[in-house]
Amino acid sequence: MAISQNLHDDIEEILIAESALQERIAALADAVSRDFRGKDLVLVGILKGGVMFMVDLVRHLSIPLDMDFMAISSYGNSTESSGVVRILKDLDEPVTGKHVLIVEDIIDTGLTLQYLVEILGKRGPASLTICALLDKEKSGDKVLVPGYVGFRIPDRFVVGYGLDYAQKYRNLPYIGVLKPTVYSE
Ligand code: IMP
Ligand code: MG
Repeated sequence: MAISQNLHDDIEEILIAESALQERIAALADAVSRDFRGKDLVLVGILKGGVMFMVDLVRHLSIPLDMDFMAISSYGNSTESSGVVRILKDLDEPVTGKHVLIVEDIIDTGLTLQYLVEILGKRGPASLTICALLDKEKSGDKVLVPGYVGFRIPDRFVVGYGLDYAQKYRNLPYIGVLKPTVYSE
């Protein structure tokens, strides 16, 4: 992997600019504030990819809420979904009787979130909703239906704004596609 000292130099194309991300997140937050007013809400951020989205989203939310985090592994360092999901860090607090909003960076195959919905669903939440920043357009039907989606994107591997390639590029403020040289060298 050939990584530049200026990460921006490794980006072939910016798919979603920083301003577009922030504008859309503010709009999503308005919808969430409206939908969960008066409800006992906990936002579950999925580490590490969902962390930028989570912190920007909550800053726009005007209703009371709890924040909790979960870490799961799905990919290892490859760009293909393995279907193997493991809990690396569980929630700090029980979600029984609470309205749970899962905050995740991206839905690719949907396997990761499908698994999460299954295990959190068994804990007796009042409701369980997915809020995903990105949803990849795939051929065929997805079983998973998110309550909130920021952007639908083409089926390409993207980095930035929490999303990584081999743990790098999470700190870019936009969503972009890597130059092929990054993978091949
Ligand atoms: P899924 O289980 O196939 O839906 O994959 C979801 C997880 O894979 C996400 O939470 C990301 O961590 C990772 N992922 C999927 N697509 C991408 C991508 O384009 N770039 C970076 N990570 C991705
Ligand atoms: Mg992730």
